[in-house]
Amino acid sequence: DKGTYEYYMLKEIDEQPVAIRRMLDKYFGDTGEILIGDQILNDIKAADRIYIVAAGTSYHSGLIGARIFESWSGIPTEVHVSSEFAYEQPLLSENPFFIFLSQSGETADSREVLQNVNRAGFKSLTMTNVEKSTLWREATYALPLMAGPEIAVASTKAYIAQVTLQAILAYALSDRIDLDLEQELSKIAVDIQAIVDDKAVFEKVANELLVPAHSAFYIGRGADADVSLEAALKLKEISYVQAEGFPAGELKHGTLALIEDGTPVIALLTQPKTAGLVRGNIAETQARGANAYTITTKALAEPGDTGYVLPDVDPLLAPLLSVVPTQLLAYYTSLGRGLDVDHPRNLAKSVTVQ
Ligand code: M6R
Repeated sequence: DKGTYEYYMLKEIDEQPVAIRRMLDKYFGDTGEILIGDQILNDIKAADRIYIVAAGTSYHSGLIGARIFESWSGIPTEVHVSSEFAYEQPLLSENPFFIFLSQSGETADSREVLQNVNRAGFKSLTMTNVEKSTLWREATYALPLMAGPEIAVASTKAYIAQVTLQAILAYALSDRIDLDLEQELSKIAVDIQAIVDDKAVFEKVANELLVPAHSAFYIGRGADADVSLEAALKLKEISYVQAEGFPAGELKHGTLALIEDGTPVIALLTQPKTAGLVRGNIAETQARGANAYTITTKALAEPGDTGYVLPDVDPLLAPLLSVVPTQLLAYYTSLGRGLDVDHPRNLAKSVTVQ
């Protein structure tokens, strides 16, 4: 039920803090211990490589998850688009473990991969929002995302839940990281609430910058490059503005030719290691007339920025915050263009054909 909301998508964006809190209740015990079965953890620890397989927004959350798995658990991790992996399987490591990410649990391409994985006798884990779905039933293990039903075609809270659950799992697999994840995630839930309370800011930016645009760019480096893909997908999907997400440093190897007077370039700037370089890339686009907008953290903000400032956060978890303004920008661009936000043309919520 949409309640007072005009569209499910905005309701689901607003539910993201609750989705994280529900996950904290489910996966953390009273003394901060993580409640994920030892068998799953032991099977993953025994693997020499994790393969994350997913489609669309779930694939984008996998890109973030892979960074977290590698950094916290030290297990090499690859991420693959399921429709490619199913038919062009890369050379596998000797002892792989597969993680399937899927909001619906019904994506046909991912199921095709899971069937191959099962035939080969490899172990797998599905993280899905729909218990008892096909991917839930057919994997060795399954963990629920707890995000509650997601009705809008554009996936929002499932992405947040997938990144959160991958972080919890990576944390459980590691014994050497110096971070109180439960506390950090609680703070992130509060921070997301503050961002969604700033809706009016994003409505204005969408109307000025994106509603009149023919095309738009999201740029960033590292985890920000991954979020730029998700941000661009969301914008394309519901507002039909042609959008590209791009590793900021790659721009000058061709794509910079597309920047002209007034082209919106939204830079994600949450990674301290590369912030200076991204600043340089923003300047390169501005010199070609781009209309630049930054989504950055407090520590990396500079006077004179046109943009939105997020609270400071662990850089690996920054995508949980930085994606939210991009969801709201996509929402208000679609709304401003008079489109049916929840039902973009040509798309289905669950893609059950290959
Ligand atoms: O149900 P799944 O997570 O497996 O679906 C994967 C994609 O079809 C899905 O994320 C799609 O990209 C969304 N509509 C994007 O908002």
